[in-house]
Amino acid sequence: DLDPLPPMTPEFLSVLNKVCEQCYTDFAPDELEVSVREHILRDLESFVRRQFPGARLQLFGSSKNGFGFRQSDLDICMDGNCIIIIESLARQLKKHPGLKNILPITTAKVPIVKFYHIRTGLEGDISLYNTLALHNTRLLASYAAIDRRVKILCYVMKVFAKMCDIGDASRGSLSSYAYTLMVLFFLQQRSPPVIPVLQEIYDAKKKPQVLVDGWNVYFFHDLKTLPSCWPQYAKNTETVGELWLGLLRFYTEDFDFREHVVCIRQHSRLTTFNKQWTSKYIVIEDPFDLNHNLGAGLSRKMTNFIMKAFINGRTVFGTPIKVFPPLYPSQME
Ligand code: GTP
Ligand code: MG
Repeated sequence: DLDPLPPMTPEFLSVLNKVCEQCYTDFAPDELEVSVREHILRDLESFVRRQFPGARLQLFGSSKNGFGFRQSDLDICMDGNCIIIIESLARQLKKHPGLKNILPITTAKVPIVKFYHIRTGLEGDISLYNTLALHNTRLLASYAAIDRRVKILCYVMKVFAKMCDIGDASRGSLSSYAYTLMVLFFLQQRSPPVIPVLQEIYDAKKKPQVLVDGWNVYFFHDLKTLPSCWPQYAKNTETVGELWLGLLRFYTEDFDFREHVVCIRQHSRLTTFNKQWTSKYIVIEDPFDLNHNLGAGLSRKMTNFIMKAFINGRTVFGTPIKVFPPLYPSQME
């Protein structure tokens, strides 16, 4: 029941491509912002060590995975050889003069303390022993490093999700992380693929086992040798604009959400039946914690809202309109 799209024109595709590239140049943080994040981290680490001498703090999420925005939150994982109690961590953070709005949340799957960093206006949270998140951050960073189109498309997806108001997990939609997994899955399934399945590349006969919290977090990360390990390397030559429209069409025309799982750890299709996740319409499997469906919290109403955003996106980006060249001051005289 989708309207057919009119023929695409090269002019419109080139505009589309520019818009995509612009998302990246407008929103990617510069080196200064990256170092500010590291600085805050070091400062917080030395501060919490007064209370927890063996503690270690590490950044994860978009501060590290290659898809960060200027105002993205600070995701910090705390571990180390000491016993950390979330309430006493919160009490300690309340003494820090540079922070406010300290709020411990103990009911979540991973306990966290939220805070607001006054000088930068950045929000952040410290989670405890969130080891798998450190690994999926490294996995995403590796995909981002393979091809710059990966990075740009993930930015475009995040901008799109924000503009359509479908990107806030705390208000019942999907998280940035979930949308990033959708982009990576599309790029693996594209033919020829833009990126490989890093969890399926290994030279031994059997997949190596690296167990963390009971899950295998192995993935191929020797990216320098990827061209010789992955026969499809650099075969896909589409522009970012073509891929963005391709993504919107893929999720609205080709991918059957009722049958299939968005799954970036294997190339062959995984079904919702295999996973016993048939009651949900958008099913996104975490690449390491295979019991974690990122779409589990979606209501039916929110699912429809998200699907409508994709369908509208397909029409908007897939319908060529006449685009006039920009006016420069010299042309206005
Ligand atoms: P932005 O903060 O929106 O720029 O993106 P982000 O990738 O940092 O997303 P977010 O702050 O929501 O999540 C931080 C990290 O937590 C993700 O990058 C994952 O590494 C990890 N994570 C693992 N499982 C989940 C999950 O179910 N939901 C969310 N939100 N994050 C998860
Ligand atoms: Mg974040």
